[in-house]
Amino acid sequence: MAAAVLIESLVFRRLSSQALQHFRSSFLGAQKFVHVGLQPQHGFCTSFQLRASQSKATGSYNPTDRHADSEQTGPNSRREEVASEAEVAKEVSDQALPHFKIQKEMSSQEQGMKMSSGKKGEFRYPEPDELVPKEAPAIGVISLPHPIWSREQLDSVVVAHKAPKGFVDWCAYLSVQALRKSFDLTSGYTFGKKNEANWLRRIIFLETVAGVPGMMGAMVRHLKSLRSLKRDNGWIHTLLEEAENERMHLMVALQIKQPGKLFRLGAVVTQGIFVNMFFLAYLASPKFCHRFVGYLEEEAVKTYTTLLDDIASGRIPQWTDRPAPKIAIDYWKLPEGATFYDMFAAIRADEAHHRLVNHTLSSMQSHHYNPFKPGA
Ligand SMILES: [Fe+2]
Ligand SMILES: [Fe+2]
Repeated sequence: MAAAVLIESLVFRRLSSQALQHFRSSFLGAQKFVHVGLQPQHGFCTSFQLRASQSKATGSYNPTDRHADSEQTGPNSRREEVASEAEVAKEVSDQALPHFKIQKEMSSQEQGMKMSSGKKGEFRYPEPDELVPKEAPAIGVISLPHPIWSREQLDSVVVAHKAPKGFVDWCAYLSVQALRKSFDLTSGYTFGKKNEANWLRRIIFLETVAGVPGMMGAMVRHLKSLRSLKRDNGWIHTLLEEAENERMHLMVALQIKQPGKLFRLGAVVTQGIFVNMFFLAYLASPKFCHRFVGYLEEEAVKTYTTLLDDIASGRIPQWTDRPAPKIAIDYWKLPEGATFYDMFAAIRADEAHHRLVNHTLSSMQSHHYNPFKPGA
């Protein structure tokens, strides 16, 4: 085998350096496309490889040709063969190169991919101006899958409570109750007036917090999957969907009002504390965290039900029959002419869904497969 390779190499080197250079450069392109081996460091290619490359490029590859190739051993026939090999190589490269060029164009559009030819200087990273769309799509148009609620579903959400069972459940329930009672008292919700400004302040603040647990849970499970070399069992996508869904609640509320600097500072401080606490809590007990979020969502459904009652009864006159922002209509696929009531009904339905998801995940073992499909 080694002797055959040596003889073939010597014969092949009789080709003029110009022909060799042409053959090498042209066939390098064909090689990438048809995955057949010119060995650039050796400067030769077997007849079988050439024939294979030709027949692959033309779609007529026949493995039995290899046997026919090996029978041609005479020096004259070999010389003729080598001459014809150069012609074949050019023919192959002419056939394959256009495809290779197309492939190069496709590759150059993909960020971070090295040009397949390996020639220095051919790859150019696009400038941001060439990639960034001139007009950004509306908020929420590009989103993870999420439920789209029917009118019947929007109107059938009920306030519900899952009775705590066991130490962890009670810890989660009492934690949420303590947080709710203290927040209601300090924010003026318990005894204060529930007007538009107060409702908006409450909604915006709580939604900056509500988007944290899903992201932390997804991150911890993602990292656990990486370091334990085990699958996640499908929880991550549901938790990420929840995080984005809560962030969309915030984006929608921000269409109505932009908070001031003091509020923004409060959101930063609260996030700094809550993110770290929830991260550590999720490491210690995912069961507690999902139960905690389940009870938090029970409270969210109560709050949005109160808000819907206030809108329906005219206690927030600015929101009576007020058209929903476009991003809300786009995100929840609400019908044209949807109102603030419909929009908050969709948010309430989302919260009820999070309630179900988190109570379910808390009752499951961490290695159980997530029953919630993407967007459902
Ligand atoms: Fe929310
Ligand atoms: Fe929620």
